Amino acid sequence: MDKKILVAYATYYGTTREVAETIAKTITEHGYEVEVISAREARDVSRYGAVIVGSAIRGGKIHADVLHFLEDHETELSQVPVAYFVCCMTMHDDSPDSRYMAEGYLAEVFNKISKVKPISIGYFGGVLELKRLDWLARLVVKALRAPEGDYRNWAAIIHWSEEVAEAL
Ligand SMILES: Cc1cc2nc3c(=O)[nH]c(=O)nc-3n(C[C@H](O)[C@H](O)[C@H](O)COP(=O)(O)O)c2cc1C
Repeated sequence: MDKKILVAYATYYGTTREVAETIAKTITEHGYEVEVISAREARDVSRYGAVIVGSAIRGGKIHADVLHFLEDHETELSQVPVAYFVCCMTMHDDSPDSRYMAEGYLAEVFNKISKVKPISIGYFGGVLELKRLDWLARLVVKALRAPEGDYRNWAAIIHWSEEVAEAL
């Protein structure tokens, strides 16, 4: 592939950006040129030969910037390989129940962005640090019953990135 690959992400606290950067680094090691740009700033999607789109999950929803990005570029994205990934605390353990729940977070994307058929979807654990949250966010997070800590499985993230690179 001659064209560059775009990794577009949206984050609240930075976790998903770091995952996006690791995905980009891994795909670069497979000989591709990769740009990592926030979904809010990403433009001119037709310049890219493939696009990887990642979102943090909050309140059971993907980030609005990702949804807008997908809506704005649906036609271009339907013409190139696209992969999605999400970072969320539901995936702190990679069990069938957690996957089932995490898949539900993307239902809105599949309903609204029906032209784009991702070649792969990565479901990754995130980071929860209560001290960084205001009282309202803490209340929301309590309902999740998620443990505190960094639950990003870097080996799984790199493995998924390699699989995506090989599929391009
Ligand atoms: C207010 C709030 C709501 C959240 N809601 C969910 C949720 O509904 N499901 C989930 O799996 N994780 C949820 N999380 C966990 C985040 O997805 C996780 O912390 C992720 O790593 C955040 O990514 P970011 O640092 O890129 O923003 C929530 C976190 C916060 C602070």
